[in-house]
Amino acid sequence: MSQTPELVVKDLHVAVEGKEILKGLSLEVRKGEIHALMGPNGSGKSTFANTLMGHPRYEVTHGDILFKGQSVLEMEADERSRAGLFMAFQYPVAIPGVSVANFLRTALNARLAPAATNGSGAPPAKRGIPPKEFRSLLQEKMKLLRMDDTFAGRYLNDGFSGGEKKRAEILQMAVLKPEVAIMDETDSGLDIDALRIVADGVNALAGPAMGVLLITHYQRILNYIKPHYVHVMVDGRIQLSGGAELALELEARGYDFVREGKEVSAS
Ligand SMILES: Nc1ncnc2c1ncn2[C@@H]1O[C@H](COP(=O)(O)OP(=O)(O)OP(=O)(O)O)[C@@H](O)[C@H]1O
Ligand SMILES: [Mg+2]
Repeated sequence: MSQTPELVVKDLHVAVEGKEILKGLSLEVRKGEIHALMGPNGSGKSTFANTLMGHPRYEVTHGDILFKGQSVLEMEADERSRAGLFMAFQYPVAIPGVSVANFLRTALNARLAPAATNGSGAPPAKRGIPPKEFRSLLQEKMKLLRMDDTFAGRYLNDGFSGGEKKRAEILQMAVLKPEVAIMDETDSGLDIDALRIVADGVNALAGPAMGVLLITHYQRILNYIKPHYVHVMVDGRIQLSGGAELALELEARGYDFVREGKEVSAS
C-alpha cells in the first residue's frame, strides 16, 4: 500500500452560503482501498461528497483536494468525473426520455474522449465505443449485477424503485470504471436482497483498480462490504479512524463516545 494515494484531501474547509461546514478534513484514498465514512446527521458527510464532485454551491475556503496528484479545485464537476472520480448520489435524479443504455453510452463516451477536446469548444470526437461493443459490455455488467435485460431500455430513474435507482448507480459505476468511487448512502432503502446485490457489485468492482469511499449510517452494509478503514465524522472533521471493528463499536455505543473524545482532545 505504498503507492501514491489516488485521492488526497488536505485540511479541507468548506462553507455553504457563508457558513463553515467542513472544518479541516484530511483523508487519503488509494486504489484497492475501501473507506467507510460514518457520523451523525448533519456532520458534513454529504457536504464532503458534494465538494469532492465539484458542486458549485460548496465553497472551498481552505485546503486542497488532489486527484491523481493534481488539484481538482478548479475543475468542473464533469471534468472530475471524466478524470475518474465517480459519485453515487443519496437522491439520484430522474431523466425521463433518456434510457439507461443511452445515458450510460453517452457517459462512457465522455469518459473515453481524450482530455484535449474537453472544454475547447470543439465537437466531441466521433469515435467513442461502437454500439455493438457497448451492448455486450452493458450486458456483461448487467449480468454481473443480476439485472433484468429490460432495465437498459427504461428511462433513467423514471419510476424506478429505491432499490432500482441504487442498482442503476452501481451499473453506471461498472460501466465507467472510475478510479475512485464515492457512494453517499447507497444502502439506504434497500431490502436485504438488493443490499447484497449492491454489495456484491461493489466488491466485484472494488478490486485493485478502484478505491471506494462509502458513506453510510449502518453497520449492516459493512457486513457485506468489508472496509479497510472506518472514519467517524463529527462537526465537519474526521474525529476518529480505525479498522472495520470501529463500525461495530459505533453500532454498540453510538456516537457519543466519539463526541466526548473530541471534547477531551479539544480541551
Ligand atoms: N446547500 C446547503 N444550504 C444550507 N445548509 C447546508 C447545505 N448543504 C449542507 N448544509 C448544512 O450543512 C450541515 C451538514 O449537512 P450534510 O448534508 O453534509 O450532513 P450529513 O452528514 O450528510 O447528514 P446526513 O447523515 O443526515 O445525511 C447541515 O447543518 C446542513 O444543514
Ligand atoms: Mg448526507
